[in-house]
Amino acid sequence: MRTKLVAGNWKMHGGLAANRELLDALKAASADWSGVESAVCVPFPYLHQVRELLRGTPIAWGAQNLSEHEAGAYTGEVSGAMLRDFECRYVIVGHSERRRLYGEQDAQVAAKFAAAQRAGLVPILCVGETLEEREQGATEAVVARQLDAVLDTAGVAALRNAVLAYEPVWAIGTGRTATPEQAQAVHRYLRERIAGRDAEIAQEVRILYGGSVKAGNAAQLFAMPDVDGGLIGGASLIAEEFAAICKAAKAE
Ligand code: 13P
Repeated sequence: MRTKLVAGNWKMHGGLAANRELLDALKAASADWSGVESAVCVPFPYLHQVRELLRGTPIAWGAQNLSEHEAGAYTGEVSGAMLRDFECRYVIVGHSERRRLYGEQDAQVAAKFAAAQRAGLVPILCVGETLEEREQGATEAVVARQLDAVLDTAGVAALRNAVLAYEPVWAIGTGRTATPEQAQAVHRYLRERIAGRDAEIAQEVRILYGGSVKAGNAAQLFAMPDVDGGLIGGASLIAEEFAAICKAAKAE
């Protein structure tokens, strides 16, 4: 039985006052989704504040990126060990915005995934196709390539301490969600591909769906057998929305 996980990706949003208001509201509501794991992945400068606010609560926290290097002359970068200093549990790796806007390639994503695990973090590995790739019928080939790049270097056993997220690029921030059936088809494909390497790990690994998840569509998505929760962008900035999404995961 896979425990559902709902993780917020705040992206480049937030502020000290707004974060406090949001997290206070989530803490107050969190008893409503007991049995569901929840987390927020926040901008680096707020990790200290978020740790102070969430320590001792059921809500975990994490970051949205890390360096593939341990330490050194890498101006502007943040290492996995630094994230562990702030008791991060999760770190998002290979988000499509990192791939598209910052040129992260599969090999670099794989290196970041490994660096996260070396530091004791749980990477949330994002995969997903663009609209053009979907229309060309290349969805499976694209997510397979992105997944294999990590499994070929880290090994399938690394998925025991990792989370996958399917985020179709065309559904991110667009208000255009994948249908539950579209999400399920890709999630099943990913699980079968992992099963090709190790059937037991394939059954254990959580595969989140991300892309315009809202309170209004979360329950249908989470009802799909291979959808184990969500990676939530815009709706994670609104306490009532995020709380409702976490509650929807409990209902399924
Ligand atoms: P939205 O929920 O805003 O579409 O963003 C999804 C996402 O990119 C989460 O990582």
